[in-house]
Amino acid sequence: MQERINKLKSEVGSFATDNINDLENFRVRFLGKKGFIPLLFSDFASVSSDQKRKYGKLINDLKNLTIEKITTLKTILEEKSFSVSNTDLTLPGDSFSVGSRHPISIVRNSIIDIFTRIGFIISEGPVIEDDNHVFSKLNFPPEHPARDMQDTFFIEKEQSENTNNFDILLRTHTSSVQVRDMENSSPPIRTISPGRVFRNEAITARAHCIFHQVEGLYIDTNVSFADLKQTLLYFAKEMFGQDTKIRLRPSYFPFTEPSGEMDVSCLICGGKGCAVCKHTGWVEILGCGMVDPNVLDNCNIDSKKYTGFAFGMGVERIAQLKYKVNDLRLYFENDIRFLSQFQASI
Ligand code: PHE
Repeated sequence: MQERINKLKSEVGSFATDNINDLENFRVRFLGKKGFIPLLFSDFASVSSDQKRKYGKLINDLKNLTIEKITTLKTILEEKSFSVSNTDLTLPGDSFSVGSRHPISIVRNSIIDIFTRIGFIISEGPVIEDDNHVFSKLNFPPEHPARDMQDTFFIEKEQSENTNNFDILLRTHTSSVQVRDMENSSPPIRTISPGRVFRNEAITARAHCIFHQVEGLYIDTNVSFADLKQTLLYFAKEMFGQDTKIRLRPSYFPFTEPSGEMDVSCLICGGKGCAVCKHTGWVEILGCGMVDPNVLDNCNIDSKKYTGFAFGMGVERIAQLKYKVNDLRLYFENDIRFLSQFQASI
């Protein structure tokens, strides 16, 4: 046994390698389940009791020597594999791609930017609303057909027959936010309300049940239709270019009187006529009007003292014109191949 131990000791002492696999083989050969050292320990059982002390120490020393050897070689090999000499520091680094903003965010941000430059502030409100803020206070009488203009998702219908003011629903426009603004502050009010709105429509390339709006409201003494026109002209020029023209056509909304719809000169053909403007030279982008005095009174604002204008636009509609992407569904699918094509500074 003495001889075997001496032989193994000198083998461990002289072992050297720069290969991690060789080191592992060495470990298995000496310390593995059927390795030399466990074998020595099992032979140790038959050593006579007066020799046990001597051989016990020799085998333990051999075991410690082997473990020490393996640990030292392992450390050296690991350091080597990380060492600078193996790394080419002149190689170019891995590039990483920067994300891009969603086109709806880009357009919404630029609308906000244009209006905040002339003193509008941003107001936001709940997506789940009551009938009062979405319809009643905005001069939609109960059972009035104008309510059908906005196909509503109802969450809870009030059962009592005398009123539907307490129906709970998803807001169909962000005018509801402006009702809250009027209730909670006093003129001058100059605010825009960006946000998600919902209408119960089948999803097609041209319609979606979710879309985004930015609605505006200005209330003060002596606000006139001319102020509305100039504000919207300023917006159209900032958004679509300085050569853009606007035109207003009469329309109907329960909360404005008079009401209008605004067209901008077609940015594709410059007004000559093309498929986008259906050969009219104009494309419709928003609804607007002078706030109906009933709405002011409903929100505790003195309609004898104050007047105001309001407007509302769909962000998707503006994005369609800006990016010429006509299938609305693309804006909601979050396909990275679509989204990565949009770059924005704001
Ligand atoms: N709230 C209207 C809509 O969603 C838009 C609008 C706002 C029209 C303000 C006129 C004045 O259709």
